[in-house]
Amino acid sequence: MLTRETSKSKFPSSVRVLKIADAYPVDELTQVFTGQDAVISALPASSASLSKRIVDAAVAAGVKRLIPSEFGNNTSEAAAAQVPLYARKAEAARYLDERAREGGERGEGKGLSWTAIHCGQFFDWGLESGWLNYDLSRREVTIYDSGDRRWSTSNIGTVGTAVVKVLSRPLDDAAIRNKHLLVSSFTVSQNEVLQLLEEVDREGKKWDVKRLSSEAALEDAKKADESEALKVRVLMLLYADGEDKGANFESDDRLANEVLGLEKEDLRSVIDKLVNY
Ligand SMILES: NC(=O)c1ccc[n+]([C@@H]2O[C@H](COP(=O)([O-])OP(=O)(O)OC[C@H]3O[C@@H](n4cnc5c(N)ncnc54)[C@H](OP(=O)(O)O)[C@@H]3O)[C@@H](O)[C@H]2O)c1
Repeated sequence: MLTRETSKSKFPSSVRVLKIADAYPVDELTQVFTGQDAVISALPASSASLSKRIVDAAVAAGVKRLIPSEFGNNTSEAAAAQVPLYARKAEAARYLDERAREGGERGEGKGLSWTAIHCGQFFDWGLESGWLNYDLSRREVTIYDSGDRRWSTSNIGTVGTAVVKVLSRPLDDAAIRNKHLLVSSFTVSQNEVLQLLEEVDREGKKWDVKRLSSEAALEDAKKADESEALKVRVLMLLYADGEDKGANFESDDRLANEVLGLEKEDLRSVIDKLVNY
């Protein structure tokens, strides 16, 4: 585990923890990456330059495999145009691919390879924390537009499993080598989630449903602080009717669940567990 010198993060005693200067300098990174087969980055994607330093150090240290800090939505052009964070992720992903190709030119299977895991929004975390805009304790939700737009989403454990599955595959496996993989626990709509929340409610209570257009939400976001604006821009990628900006991973048959051997998950039982246990 790599952590910053001034970090307050706590790790289990069984984990070997290495410290690095807060600025993540390439020379220090190269030193700690040397001898590592794989690097998994879960750094904030707020800076493309930080992501690029990770790539430079991984190449310099001879790391064989890098899983970059994606772990979110598809960062297609349409999505990146709406969410600047995704534009930075896409820029970092292009850089990673370029640097990996340089290594590839030295011979098949040589140099750095990468696999990016896109999982949509975290479902269990997003529902429990209120990030997906369902207030479980008050039974309140705002449904945007029709509420029928479908979006792919993953439980956090599934994302971890996807990482492990990628690491277990041979480096030269064409199904995962230098690829963006889209995975999801399920593809849902706002209305479907609401219906199940009401169905599993042991007190049989109905939810208080407000409605808002995605245009109005995006307009309001212009006056919101940075974190709220980011959230609305991301949520409207999933929830807004109209042009699909890549939130439904099933629509273009690009879901990699089968490629990775991820097990099927049941939406109702996940929601039931979150609400009732
Ligand atoms: N799909 C979803 O719903 C979803 C939700 C949240 C996040 N994500 C994605 O998951 C990834 C990680 O996000 P996160 O929210 O977990 O990130 P985060 O908490 O902001 O940062 C992760 C770790 O990086 C280190 N860090 C923080 N700021 C740093 C900085 N400026 N420079 C260097 N290191 C820094 C910290 O570790 P130390 O203190 O140990 O150094 C921190 O615990 C991102 O790609 C993000 O987009 C996805």
